[in-house]
Amino acid sequence: MKTIAVLTSGGDAPGMNAAIRAVIRYGIHKGCKVYGISRGYKGLIEGDLAEVDLRSACDIIHRGGTILRTARCEEFMTEEGRRQAATVLRVFGVDGLVVIGGDGTFKGARELAKLGVNVVGIPGTIDNDLPYTDYTIGFDTAINTVLDAIGKIRDTSSSHERISIIEVMGRNCGDIALYAGLAGGAEEVVIPEKGQDMEKIFRELLESKSRGKKQSIIILSEGVGEAHELEKQIKEKTKMDSRSTVLGHIQRGGSPSAFDRILATKMGATAVELLIQGKTARVIGIRNNMIFDMDVEEALGVIKKFDSETYELIDILAN
Ligand code: F6P
Repeated sequence: MKTIAVLTSGGDAPGMNAAIRAVIRYGIHKGCKVYGISRGYKGLIEGDLAEVDLRSACDIIHRGGTILRTARCEEFMTEEGRRQAATVLRVFGVDGLVVIGGDGTFKGARELAKLGVNVVGIPGTIDNDLPYTDYTIGFDTAINTVLDAIGKIRDTSSSHERISIIEVMGRNCGDIALYAGLAGGAEEVVIPEKGQDMEKIFRELLESKSRGKKQSIIILSEGVGEAHELEKQIKEKTKMDSRSTVLGHIQRGGSPSAFDRILATKMGATAVELLIQGKTARVIGIRNNMIFDMDVEEALGVIKKFDSETYELIDILAN
């Protein structure tokens, strides 16, 4: 019998629970003993793990957040912290570890693998900022949350004939803004990959006003600028009325979409299979609708190709 453990680390993402459920239930189905580690790498270092059973995965597939809870852990950034984590796994007799999270989590997995830990990573982050995979768990739910907000803001924005700026999450990746912007019919998306060209925004708003358009939606990716600041500048430069909304952490919560649950479930089962086969330092992804795995180091080195076609399409359709 193999002993495996699972943890979630970094920012939570809808669908993490579906992945945890798959790891627990598929692992037990394959005859494994399964541990759940609380609060990510922090809990691992502190030895905060407990054996889970089939019932531990009851009623969680539809829930946002992570039942294992999560943390961002400074101590794990140190060699000493990682050695302590590896020791805890050895003491509990863990042969394989599944980590669910974003690129910080994967960097941690890479380092643990160097210390001889068998580890497999599942991409869980709303940001979709892991370029080796087409999708990360949580991204689809997050853009649907943003889309719902765009629809509601659009109602009031058009009633008042205003410019509405909606600030979304994404850290250094504009995917949430880009794809929610495309689906929500936004006039402008401001994303880190393109930077902030204020003059272009003012010019386009004035041009659309002269064509008789009275309302516009601007999706602003966090980090490129401040929504309230952009609101002020638009008022000043275009004399058009504007309002801003920062969506914040509502984007990280909520029941996962069908897409995220399916992705998470398939990835969870694949992670267990890989560990049973004795594989290590692998991460799981989806490309062209196929689940695959690759070396963690290689995955972290993949450079994101900017989807300029989508960006340009938003511009064309904004007319
Ligand atoms: O990585 C997910 C994410 O939600 C980013 O989009 C955002 O920049 C960050 O986490 C916010 O982190 P915290 O919840 O720690 O403030």
